[in-house]
Amino acid sequence: MKHLVTGVCGFVASNLARKLLEAGHHVTGIDNMSCGYFSNIADLIGHKSGFHFEEADVRDWKGTGESYDAVWHLAARGELYYCRDHIDEAIDVNIKGTLNMLKLAKESLASHFYFADTSAEYDSFEDEQYYPVAEWMAPNTITPMGYYAITKMAASQFVRSFGKTNDIGTTLFRYTNIYGPEMNLSRDIPPVIGSFANKLFNGVACVIYGDGSKRRDFLHIDDLSDLHLAALEHRQDKKDSQTFNGGSGENHSIHEVWEVVYNSCIEYYPNASGNVIYQPDQPNEAQITLVNIDKAKEHLGWEPKISFSEGVGKTVTNLWERFCNDRKSNA
Ligand SMILES: NC(=O)c1ccc[n+]([C@@H]2O[C@H](COP(=O)([O-])OP(=O)(O)OC[C@H]3O[C@@H](n4cnc5c(N)ncnc54)[C@H](O)[C@@H]3O)[C@@H](O)[C@H]2O)c1
Repeated sequence: MKHLVTGVCGFVASNLARKLLEAGHHVTGIDNMSCGYFSNIADLIGHKSGFHFEEADVRDWKGTGESYDAVWHLAARGELYYCRDHIDEAIDVNIKGTLNMLKLAKESLASHFYFADTSAEYDSFEDEQYYPVAEWMAPNTITPMGYYAITKMAASQFVRSFGKTNDIGTTLFRYTNIYGPEMNLSRDIPPVIGSFANKLFNGVACVIYGDGSKRRDFLHIDDLSDLHLAALEHRQDKKDSQTFNGGSGENHSIHEVWEVVYNSCIEYYPNASGNVIYQPDQPNEAQITLVNIDKAKEHLGWEPKISFSEGVGKTVTNLWERFCNDRKSNA
């Protein structure tokens, strides 16, 4: 099958492209390099299944005239603080860019459109009693929501409606906090694992926003890749629209996360700083993320296999290798 993957130089899409290629599919990947890294896809160039990369922007790319069986739209400005400070760009990329990719899916005769939505759409729930949240519970439209989540919510509705109008099946994934090798190391807000490890290896204090009691549902990238492939198997021929939570169904406080990452890091770097700097919390950011994953279990036969401590251990090992390599190449 032929797939188009947008945002392919990003953390999640590069992993998705790799898995599709390993499964024997042909992949065209596009990215405008605004917050992705070519190093994430360097190993895919020349892959025997056929990988083609174009530097292109989802806001205005018209395609190459090629047809695709499936479009996986993952390109976005996904950083909460960036979207807060650049609302116009967030709307342009996350909403208008999605609409442009939907039009391209139609023109390129794609039969299915897969979309990276976010569990941040549930952030507006202010009452603990609602958790774990199921897919039908978002969006809550009577309490404030972060700007990033608003753009994803609007884009999601375009995906559902455009798909229905144009006979394109749609599958939306509400990812929680995805972590693993190749994750972005510079983002201080969840997923914080990369930021913590990076700071610990550099002997710098970690930054926690709020008091550390916020709880987050984390999913390892390998489990997410399994979810993507399960969706491809079960959803590719379907013409309806379905949304699936992509999380682990359990959560951890940011303090617990710091402790697990710290304990993994000191195995490699015993001099890691145990200091933490606390900074004010972001308004409209959820105190809790915790999703119910029964729907994906039932309809896609998927469930996460990697425990949090195992996933963090694997991630920290990889980040330590990256850190040592970067140090060697900068020496
Ligand atoms: N990582 C998570 O924990 C998480 C959680 C919820 C939702 N998501 C969503 O999943 C998707 C992938 O997330 P990620 O963590 O891999 O993000 P990422 O920032 O690593 O990757 C996004 C990619 O999109 C590219 N991009 C941005 N604007 C573009 C444009 N206008 N045209 C073309 N390419 C553009 C960037 O250069 C980058 O390579 C995003 O849509 C994000 O909103 C991620």
